[in-house]
Amino acid sequence: MDNAAPTAPPTAALAIETRRLCLWYGTFQALFDVDLRIRSGIITSLIGPSGCGKSTFLRSVNRINDRLGYVRTTGSIHVHGRDILAPDVEIIQVRRQIGMVFQRPNPLPLSVRENVIFGYLLHREARGALRREERDRIVEESLRKVLLWDSVKDHLDRKATELSLEEQQKLCIARLLPMKPHLLLMDEPCSALDPAATSAIEELLWDLRGEYTIVIVTHNMAQARRASDECIFMLMGKVVEHGETGSLFVTPAHRQTADYIEGRYG
Ligand SMILES: Nc1ncnc2c1ncn2[C@@H]1O[C@H](COP(=O)(O)OP(=O)(O)O)[C@@H](O)[C@H]1O
Ligand SMILES: [Mg+2]
Repeated sequence: MDNAAPTAPPTAALAIETRRLCLWYGTFQALFDVDLRIRSGIITSLIGPSGCGKSTFLRSVNRINDRLGYVRTTGSIHVHGRDILAPDVEIIQVRRQIGMVFQRPNPLPLSVRENVIFGYLLHREARGALRREERDRIVEESLRKVLLWDSVKDHLDRKATELSLEEQQKLCIARLLPMKPHLLLMDEPCSALDPAATSAIEELLWDLRGEYTIVIVTHNMAQARRASDECIFMLMGKVVEHGETGSLFVTPAHRQTADYIEGRYG
């Protein structure tokens, strides 16, 4: 957009690159000059106290905030080198390449199989019926990737909402994969899960790492520490610090980061 005065051209090697990204909900400013360079193929965690703008940032990256008529954005967001705020950009295309996972698993009230294939059918370019073998292949491949195949392969016609929460969240990740997204955005994906299910999801993220770029919002410090390569700390709509996760936790560069990771904020 207009005030982004680029110093160097955006690079496609970065999954996400924002410059002076500001966002307002009506008159309330939620993001202030966010400059982030999120690398491809790694897991980046996003931490900070409730209300600091983590979800707002994620929702900007796949333009979900646009749905709200009263949101205004300035600055720029490039995803793999592409300006996603450009007027000629097709939101459907942007969203197809970016998968989003939410706090509570939200499978459709359909069978396990239909959940996996639904988005793919909606987005696919080819016309005509999908061959059964092709459909079965996509379903199996996606469920294997999220380590769910063995437990659901004999119940593919079962309602997805009858699965355990851990299985539902894995399914919500599986259903993104047929669209071949580059980027997976996860907003506190384990907050509804117990510790065992949480570690199962973390294991899965490590498995997906490399093939996908993952940005995960978490309020769980231990999780950010265990489950990410790089970490971003935000406070009141600003990025305070972004660095390699190990060093951010051991030797934070800013006092505010230290205060947060030591539990001095709510
Ligand atoms: N849809 C919305 N309309 C108005 N204000 C919002 C909306 N969503 C979030 N906010 C406000 O923006 C700020 C950042 O919220 P959010 O991004 O949800 O923070 P976080 O995910 O870090 O808890 C908060 O002050 C919140 O109240
Ligand atoms: Mg949030």
